[in-house]
This record gives sequence, structure tokens and C-alpha cells, in this order.
Amino acid sequence: MLSPNSDQSTNALPTHVAIIMDGNGRWAKKRFMPRLEGHRQGAKSVRRAVEFCRSNGIKFLTLYAFSTENWQRPESEVSGLMKLLSQFIDSEIDEIHKNDIRFNIIGQTKRLPAFVKNKIEAALAKTSKNRTMVLTVALSYGGRQEIISAALKVHEALLSGSMKNEDVNDSVFSSCLNTANLPDPDLLIRTGGEIRISNFLLWQLAYAELYFTDQLWPDFDENSFWKAIEEFRSRQRRYGKISEQIQSQS
Ligand code: FPP
Repeated sequence: MLSPNSDQSTNALPTHVAIIMDGNGRWAKKRFMPRLEGHRQGAKSVRRAVEFCRSNGIKFLTLYAFSTENWQRPESEVSGLMKLLSQFIDSEIDEIHKNDIRFNIIGQTKRLPAFVKNKIEAALAKTSKNRTMVLTVALSYGGRQEIISAALKVHEALLSGSMKNEDVNDSVFSSCLNTANLPDPDLLIRTGGEIRISNFLLWQLAYAELYFTDQLWPDFDENSFWKAIEEFRSRQRRYGKISEQIQSQS
């Protein structure tokens, strides 16, 4: 599938898109519905976003589904979200597998209830050899916690002598993160109107293009996704260099 405006764009599609899916609660509130109904509609948007990436050749999609801070929400919302995640795996995993998508999880999964962990393990095993796309769900995930855990791994390697100070660089540190086998995101989308990162992929977003929209996550559809992609394609990524250097490379 091609973008309606693809002939006007010079830049490539992003390889990796990360999304902060915000606004489910407000979507429900506006309709006098329980918050969980907003999350249910949000799960439909997840399905659409996966299909959008698969059909447009975006190889990596990473979704922030539950942060370490979200454990502080009311117990009924936390357990409702856990059930929804498990239902999502039940209803979507065959389609995900059929489309050659590898299911992946980042975060402190040991904190999750056993019924979710079991579903995740089965989904990881079933799709582990798939190559067309990687769908990563961040669950019980926090960027700072991930960085601390990576720092401890490096510290242990230095103590044991398996690594020296001068061996520690960006790529070694990246390989100690939950996202070790993923490229850094090229584009971060946040729905729901807030302009912040909220402890998501703090290290990995260093050079990502950031895109914020007021649209609430359940309303985020294919057209919304294209708008974000078109905005991404219109930007020049300089990685600290000057425009002329970038132009002479292309
Ligand atoms: C933020 O909106 C959203 C969440 C904390 C949960 C995201 C979960 C889903 C989209 C559904 C299930 C996910 C998958 C991967 C199947 P909010 O509740 O903070 O919204 P608000 O800011 O309007 O209150």
C-alpha cells in the first residue's frame, strides 16, 4: 500500500515506530462509559496499527501498553487491563502468526499475573521464528528502571573482568537493554494531547522524531497514522550534523 502523498515525499518510511497510546480514559468519559471500555476500543486501534505497519512495510512497532507507574491505578482498572491483554493475545495471535509477525515483550514481566505470563510465553514461542515484522508490547515497562538494570549488567561485567572500562560504549550499553535486538525507534507517536515521554524508551528515543497529536488513542486510525508518517517524511534528520552534510550523503 502506498501513501496518497508518497510521490511528494523524499524521505523513507520509518523502520521502527513507537507509540504512547494515550487517551483511552478520556475517550470513554466523553461517552459516559467506564474507563475499561476506552481500553477495549484502544485494543481495536492496536489491531489497526499493527495492520497498518504490516501492510506498509514498517518492520518494527513498539506499543506502550502498561507502565511501571500504571500499577498505581485502581485495582479494578489494573485487573481489567490484564484481562484485556490476555484476551488480545487469544484473539489476535493466530492472525499475527499467519502474517509472519514476531510477538515481543519488554518490561518487568515477572510482576505480571501468572495467567498473562503464560499467554505471553506461548505467544513468544509460537511466533519466535517470524521475520516480516516485530510487534513489541511494553508491559510493566519503565525507561529509568531499564537503564538502571542495564547499568548493573555493565557493572557486573566490569567487576568480573569480562569487560574493561574502555569497552563500554553506546552499542554495548544498548545490548544490555530490553530492546537489545531492536533498532532504535525512528518515530515516536503520542496520542491524547500530552507533550511528554512518560518514562518510555528513554535511551532509545535519543534521535527519534517526536510526533504529538490531540487525537485520543481509540480514534487513531489509518488516516491519522498517515499524517504522522507524512510529518516524519517531511523532516530532515541531521543526527547532530549540518544540512549540507546530510544532502551530500544522499
Ligand atoms: C493510556 O490511556 C492507556 C493505557 C494506560 C493502556 C493502553 C492499553 C490499550 C491501548 C489496550 C490494550 C493494549 C494492547 C497491546 C492490546 P489512559 O487510560 O491514561 O487515558 P486518559 O489519559 O484519557 O485517562
